[in-house]
Amino acid sequence: MSADPNDFIAGLPKAELHLHIEGSLEPEMMVALAERNGVRLPYADVDAVRAAYNFTSLQDFLDLYYQGMAVLQTEQDFYDLTLAYLRRVAQDNVRHVEIFFDPQGHTGRGIAFATAFDGIEKALRDGADELDITAGIILCFLRHLSAADAMATLEEALPYRDRIVGVGLDSSEQGHPPAKFQAVFDRVRAEGFHAVAHAGEEGPPAYIWSALDDLKVERIDHGVRALEDPDLMLELARRRTPLTVCPLSNIRLCVFDDMTAHPLKMMLDRGLMVTVNSDDPAYFGGYMNDNYAAVRQALGLTNEELALIARNSFEASFLDNATKADYIAEVEAYVRAVQA
Ligand code: ADE
Ligand code: ZN
Repeated sequence: MSADPNDFIAGLPKAELHLHIEGSLEPEMMVALAERNGVRLPYADVDAVRAAYNFTSLQDFLDLYYQGMAVLQTEQDFYDLTLAYLRRVAQDNVRHVEIFFDPQGHTGRGIAFATAFDGIEKALRDGADELDITAGIILCFLRHLSAADAMATLEEALPYRDRIVGVGLDSSEQGHPPAKFQAVFDRVRAEGFHAVAHAGEEGPPAYIWSALDDLKVERIDHGVRALEDPDLMLELARRRTPLTVCPLSNIRLCVFDDMTAHPLKMMLDRGLMVTVNSDDPAYFGGYMNDNYAAVRQALGLTNEELALIARNSFEASFLDNATKADYIAEVEAYVRAVQA
């Protein structure tokens, strides 16, 4: 047993399945890109950017998140952003990532879909070579916009279909139930994409039911409000629906008062397929291992529980079965080596 309990987390192979690439924009890079592109920011310096990150709700965060995106202008910007993220999480022994991007956050301000997509994808390819990390891209629709806008975005993405693993739903949850996008997700699945959706982050358990039954998603992003509905808990356990939980995000967005009040351990104890992820690490104060360490410490998770979460992360991924098995074998070998 290692002296520092976080040493176990540091070496544990893991996958990140809930990461908005635009949410990995660190204040230093935001300021540098603003300068490079001649974009005016409402902040004097990097410290002022960080000081503004005091959120009271999801919407409060999203307002700054969309504002921050404005510095991303060229393919090189998206490339630099994505490669910086991969290099950072390689240090956390992240072995596989499925990253979200928000095309409408860029096309809506005049940046071509291809500019964002090509930059992200090229970085994922170069990062795979440099860092031995596998990666996939999940396109997300902004749910505060219309279903027609989402459908048009899906059609714009079809020429890239072979390079997109899945489609998701994010942004302002309250007042935008999954059912609003039912026809779009019918098309998403008919086109052969995997489907995921943010649900039950701030929204009620009914939104999780709707994501499952109306959108027929394979994973729920967040899902922490499932605890309020015992039938839903049983159904999520029965279906083994993966939940991509983001602990530091939940605290920073005031979903729970503090980490000791986070339901992650209860979700594990009730047999849910929980994973741990960082969501928007540049805004929420931590990458993957920080999230693992925060729940370990606050909820008293054992190494067995942490290893289960890491196994879940590969199991819940959209990798093929053989690659999943290889990664899970890496986790098992690591656990055995630590025990020896
Ligand atoms: N977009 C970026 N981060 C998000 C979150 N935590 N919830 C919904 N939409 C998001
Ligand atoms: Zn998210």
